[in-house]
Amino acid sequence: MTRGKFITFEGCDGCGKSTQLKLLIEYLTENKIEHIFTREPGGGKISEQIREILLNGKNAEMTDECEALLYAAARAQHLRDKVEPALAAGKIVVCDRYVDSSFAYQAYARGLGVEFVEKINAFAMEKYLPDCTVFFDLSPKEAFARKQGADENDRLEQAGMAFHDKVYAGYKTLAEKYPDRIVVIDARRSPKEIVAEVIKVLQEKNCL
Ligand code: TYD
Repeated sequence: MTRGKFITFEGCDGCGKSTQLKLLIEYLTENKIEHIFTREPGGGKISEQIREILLNGKNAEMTDECEALLYAAARAQHLRDKVEPALAAGKIVVCDRYVDSSFAYQAYARGLGVEFVEKINAFAMEKYLPDCTVFFDLSPKEAFARKQGADENDRLEQAGMAFHDKVYAGYKTLAEKYPDRIVVIDARRSPKEIVAEVIKVLQEKNCL
């Protein structure tokens, strides 16, 4: 059995990632390509419980270190529960966010630094780097204009524009650092145009 491919989607909040995930899943289903769809933080029983703690607006006093470790903990469990079995069964794994979110949000935006985030995630991820990561390039300003304001109950969306600008700059740095793995997609176009490019790129990278 050939091992499946691990595809992750990344971008700032409101970049259109969810729409693109839906469209890619539709394409895979229509073409009878075996796959699973999952997300981080979450994707399994224990990791979804960790997600609730992380995204709960009432947990505003959570330290940055605790946050980074919880994301890594959820990741370790999710890999074991869902990602690894699907890859071993030859399926494509499409995951909404993964380790690049930890770099963009915790290392760059929270300021914990790349070294710390790399260390805890090397432990959490073991060998599981994505075969391809699709970054939907849309600035927070454009994303928020589309979304018309943040959800006041979401702890992360309360963080403000300066924080999201740092996340965005973090993603740009990551894309430059890992040009072979991270594909940058201009997310200012129509959903149809974007998904067509995503599929093309994934085919070129032998992921589909
Ligand atoms: P979610 O509501 O799923 O947002 P989105 O639809 O934008 O993906 O919330 C996930 C949030 O978790 C998002 O704001 C990014 C954040 N996050 C991190 O800060 N670090 C991580 O490692 C991961 C996986 C997510």
